[in-house]
Amino acid sequence: MLRLRVVKVLVFAGILIATTTCTWKASEPSVCFSENILPIFISKCSMSGCHESGSTRRGDFTTYEGIMTKVDAGHPLRSEIYTKIDGNNPSMPKKGYTTLTAQEIYYIKAWISMGALNPSNCVTVCDTTSFKFTEDIQPIMNTWCVGCHSTSGASASGNVDLSNYSGVVNAIANNQLMGAIKHSSGFNPMPQGGNQLSNCQISKIQSWINSGYPNN
Ligand code: HEC
Repeated sequence: MLRLRVVKVLVFAGILIATTTCTWKASEPSVCFSENILPIFISKCSMSGCHESGSTRRGDFTTYEGIMTKVDAGHPLRSEIYTKIDGNNPSMPKKGYTTLTAQEIYYIKAWISMGALNPSNCVTVCDTTSFKFTEDIQPIMNTWCVGCHSTSGASASGNVDLSNYSGVVNAIANNQLMGAIKHSSGFNPMPQGGNQLSNCQISKIQSWINSGYPNN
């Protein structure tokens, strides 16, 4: 009956692999609330009339506490904030607004599954010496800005479209980008309703502009 045992072991191993690959491992992806989750909600959900700061009826998605009112920690499928964005025909963001990317939805699910924490010692890697447009600059814009600044989404707020190279260059040429990002006086501080970008992110954008903002 050795063969039967072998088959049994194989079936058991198969089930084990199938179940373990369906569960989240704490080691991956490393999701940091302040860097990976909050900006999604600020950029894609917190425009005025939606989930802006102070909205009690719909929920204020500009803070951890506000987001947690729609989260059941550890259970994405019981969390309204996740069930509304998941599936083939998600009800949020509302029609006409920039949709969430598959990666953003994955991050939100992973973060809720891992307990929906907001650790203050979250470490994210940010390399100031790398400042290529496609690898560094556009991803910052995609994460923190395009929900409000994309002509293909809800609107290009303030007539600024940051969803592509020429839009970003326009904002630089109009002398608007760094003032808004650095919260200089006379500019509307960006991202609107959120914290300032990290020093590392600001320095990447500044270095890229100083090097002649190549489309690289
Ligand atoms: C929640 C929506 C929202 C987010 C997120 C956001 N913006 Fe804005 N932004 C606006 C609105 C609205 C305006 C128009 C000015 C106003 O009414 O405050 C604006 C204006 C601007 C302007 C024009 C300059 C000015 O002072 O008005 C720039 C440049 C800008 N944003 C850059 C950014 C960048 C860069 C990011 C990401 C780091 C970002 N914004 C994120 C809503 C947003």
